[in-house]
Amino acid sequence: MAYKNIIFKVDGDVAVIKFNRPKALNAINPDVIAETNSALDKIMDDSSIRVLILTGEGEKAFIAGADISHMVNLSAIQAREFSRNGQDVLFRLENLPIPVIACVNGFALGGGSEFAMACDFIYASENAKFGQPEINLGVIPGFGGTQRLSRLVGEAMAKELCMTGVIIDAREAKEIGLVNKVFPHDDLWEATMKTAKIMASKGRVSLKAIKDCVERGLDVDLLDGCYMESDNFGLCMSSPDGKEGMTAFLEKRNPDFKGELG
Ligand code: CAA
Repeated sequence: MAYKNIIFKVDGDVAVIKFNRPKALNAINPDVIAETNSALDKIMDDSSIRVLILTGEGEKAFIAGADISHMVNLSAIQAREFSRNGQDVLFRLENLPIPVIACVNGFALGGGSEFAMACDFIYASENAKFGQPEINLGVIPGFGGTQRLSRLVGEAMAKELCMTGVIIDAREAKEIGLVNKVFPHDDLWEATMKTAKIMASKGRVSLKAIKDCVERGLDVDLLDGCYMESDNFGLCMSSPDGKEGMTAFLEKRNPDFKGELG
């Protein structure tokens, strides 16, 4: 598939999806979703890719939401389809077996904040702005915002953000736990890539195990979550990277993780 609405690049072991509709502040329409799905297919087929970064083209926006000009004429059935398609691509992102960082370089509103929340964590520029302004359009979040936001920042804060539609800056987003780190705008990309490279150098099996344990663990009680952790601990122990990591420590050298599954 030729991409018009995203730019997909692979830089060594790090893949980048850049949303590329800067004139519409990278608003999400069905073509963006289709192209993102296609890029995710490519990532799934390439085991040399160890980390994915999502970001936005242009100085102003990560994603300013779902495309309002697309949504305005949708019937109820079409709107449900659009919402489900958006949710599906975000579930794919969340379940990707590699870490995904949202590098939020500007507005992350509505569907934009929802895309960012489906990533493993968010790094933001000082210029970034977050919010769920759908209430101002007489609708509600449709790409999982009511669900992921409350899991990330708590029920009361999620309700306040969704019910007021207020837009918050990166500093406040960090304070409430939506964003991991905030950087001066010009430093954001380098800082994100630095963290991506650190994770890319780790064992593939253990990265996936951490992702599975933390994400799945939040949906079960503590005991079941800990049992899930023990199973994954056993898997990592018996993986080639597990053997390599521990042997390298005992031999007082740096590990050489190959990411092989067995
Ligand atoms: N959909 C379609 N077009 C959008 C857009 C969106 N979500 N956001 C911005 N644009 C377009 C504008 O229409 C404008 O296009 P024109 O130049 O052709 O007029 C262009 O991008 C630049 O935007 P502005 O001139 O408005 O820029 P600004 O700096 O004055 O304001 C903004 C920036 C505050 C982000 C403002 O554009 C805005 O409020 N955008 C809408 C934000 C929003 O409501 N997002 C939620 C959408 S609903 C949703 O996402 C549902 C869901 O959960 C799935």
